[in-house]
Amino acid sequence: MFKNLLASANIGVNEIKLKELLTIRSKVHECPKINTLFPPVEIGSITLVDQIVLLSLAQIIDPKKVVEIGTYLGYSASILAMNLKNAEIYTIDLPKSDEVESLQVDRDSIYEDGAQNDNYLRKKQNLDGEVYLENLSDAELKRVELIKADSTKLNFAEAFGNVSFVFIDGGHESHIIEKDTLNARSVVSKGVIIWHDFGSNIHTDVTDFLSAQKDRKIFHVLGSLCAFELIGFE
Ligand SMILES: C[S@@+](CC[C@H](N)C(=O)[O-])C[C@H]1O[C@@H](n2cnc3c(N)ncnc32)[C@H](O)[C@@H]1O
Repeated sequence: MFKNLLASANIGVNEIKLKELLTIRSKVHECPKINTLFPPVEIGSITLVDQIVLLSLAQIIDPKKVVEIGTYLGYSASILAMNLKNAEIYTIDLPKSDEVESLQVDRDSIYEDGAQNDNYLRKKQNLDGEVYLENLSDAELKRVELIKADSTKLNFAEAFGNVSFVFIDGGHESHIIEKDTLNARSVVSKGVIIWHDFGSNIHTDVTDFLSAQKDRKIFHVLGSLCAFELIGFE
C-alpha cells in the first residue's frame, strides 16, 4: 500500500500532500465515514487536519494495538478509540503529582516558549484529567488504558509488546523526543510512528530532531503538524 510513496521518497523529510495520504486510504477502505468530535478549543491538542492524518494512517494500518504518548485531555485517544473498533489504545501521561502541580508557568509566554507551553499542558492535564474520554461509549472506553508514567522511564517492550501504531505527542524537549522515539522504535516492527508538532513555531525541537534523521524516510503532511515514519513496509 505504501510502495509508491516509499519508492519516490528520499532519506530525510519528505513533504507530501494530504491528498496523497487520502488516496492511499481510499484504496484500502471504500467507506469514507469517520467518527469524530468537534476539534478542541483548548490549546495543546490536535487540529482537524492532524486528525485526518491520524485517522487516515489508522485506517490504512488497522492496528490492533496503539500507543499514544501524551494523553492530555484525552481528545486524540478518544477519536482513535471511536474509529479503531478492534484496537487496544494505551495512552501515556504523567501521574498526578505535587511536583507537576507546583510547576511554575509564565502564562504570558505559553504561546511563544516551548518549555513554558509544555509545563502549562502538564499542569492542565494534572488538574483537569482526561475529560474527553467522557464522550466515549462503555465499549470504546473499555479499549482505552491510561498508563500513568513518565514515558521516558517506561520499558515499552515489557509494557506493550509488539505495536503497529505509535503517536508521539508528549514532552517536546529534545531529550524526551529522542527517548520517546527510541521507545517507539523498540516496539514497532511493522507499522507507523507519528510525531506531532513537526513544523511548530513553539516546539522547534521536533522539527530539528526529525530533520537530523539521516538514515530514515520521514513524511511530513503539508498543512498539518504531523510527520510519520513507516516501518517494515516496502
Ligand atoms: C500536547 S499534549 C497531548 C495532546 C493529546 N495527544 C491530544 O491531541 O489531545 C502533551 C501531554 O504530554 C504529557 N507529557 C509531557 N511530558 C511527558 C512525559 N515525560 N511522559 C508522559 N507524558 C508527558 C503532558 O502532561 C501533556 O498532557
